[in-house]
Amino acid sequence: MVKMTCYSRIFCKNIVILLVTGFAALYLSTTNAKPATFLQDFRITWSDSHIKQLDGGRAIQLLLDQNSGCGFASKSQYLFGRVSMKIKLIPGDSAGTVTAFYMNSDTDNVRDELDFEFLGNRTGQPYSVQTNVYAHGKGDREQRVNLWFDPAADFHVYTILWNHHHVVFSVDEVPIRVYKNNEAKGVPFPKFQPMGIYSTLWEADDWATRGGLEKIDWSKAPFYAYYKDFDIEGCAMPGPATCASNQANWWEGTGYQQLDAVAARRYRWVRMNHMVYDYCTDKHRYPVTPPECMDGI
Ligand SMILES: *[C@@H]1O[C@H](CO)[C@@H](O)[C@H](O)[C@H]1NC(C)=O
Repeated sequence: MVKMTCYSRIFCKNIVILLVTGFAALYLSTTNAKPATFLQDFRITWSDSHIKQLDGGRAIQLLLDQNSGCGFASKSQYLFGRVSMKIKLIPGDSAGTVTAFYMNSDTDNVRDELDFEFLGNRTGQPYSVQTNVYAHGKGDREQRVNLWFDPAADFHVYTILWNHHHVVFSVDEVPIRVYKNNEAKGVPFPKFQPMGIYSTLWEADDWATRGGLEKIDWSKAPFYAYYKDFDIEGCAMPGPATCASNQANWWEGTGYQQLDAVAARRYRWVRMNHMVYDYCTDKHRYPVTPPECMDGI
């Protein structure tokens, strides 16, 4: 027990403030603690036998072989928020495989969906990360960047931030895709439907690598991807009315409504140096440039 003596009123007041903030910080850090295990927030949706929990459930391994791929999903759906996880992709020859991390409203004709898809490649060739955005059932907004590091050598953080102003896809806090709310230009924005969080590992060698030219090499199977540090900060639905409001939550705050100067600089760097495909500049598909592409960056 520490014995406290007050030498002056100011000093005592400071001690009290220190103690109060100390306890408040401790309280916040425990209530905001990340879930300890995968199964607290997620369930397996496809092929139990191909998903293995590691490190007491804090990490998982996904497996793809000739029998099956596999997948998992969040138990809840969320309306706005920020989701991130650390992923270590299939090393070596991953051509023809796709590892995905996405959010989806699960509503057939008016689906909202935010996609990260990691397209494998032959040994030594770069992985591509494809992002896509569906709003009110309309997708076909693919962009691709080749990563500036080997995503199979180590874990990296992949994040989707979703608020009323934009959707930002980031890799290690570097934005690689921004889909702004362009409702003013008549472009739909995902705003009304909660979305679940999903991940799958599967074979897609009819399109994934060099447009389907590179086939999966099953002699290299099984293929493994690893996930850990699942972090969901969002309004689980059904939730309080404040979830749908554009003020109540931190991810709607002024600091999150547009990229700050550092993030904007990083985003420009990715677009100038690592972008390999953008539907916005694909004149074959879009002779008329879609309105959301007029944003600039
Ligand atoms: C795979 O590697 C080739 C050759 O370097 C590259 O053109 C392509 O963008 C890479 N990614 C995919 C998914 O094909």
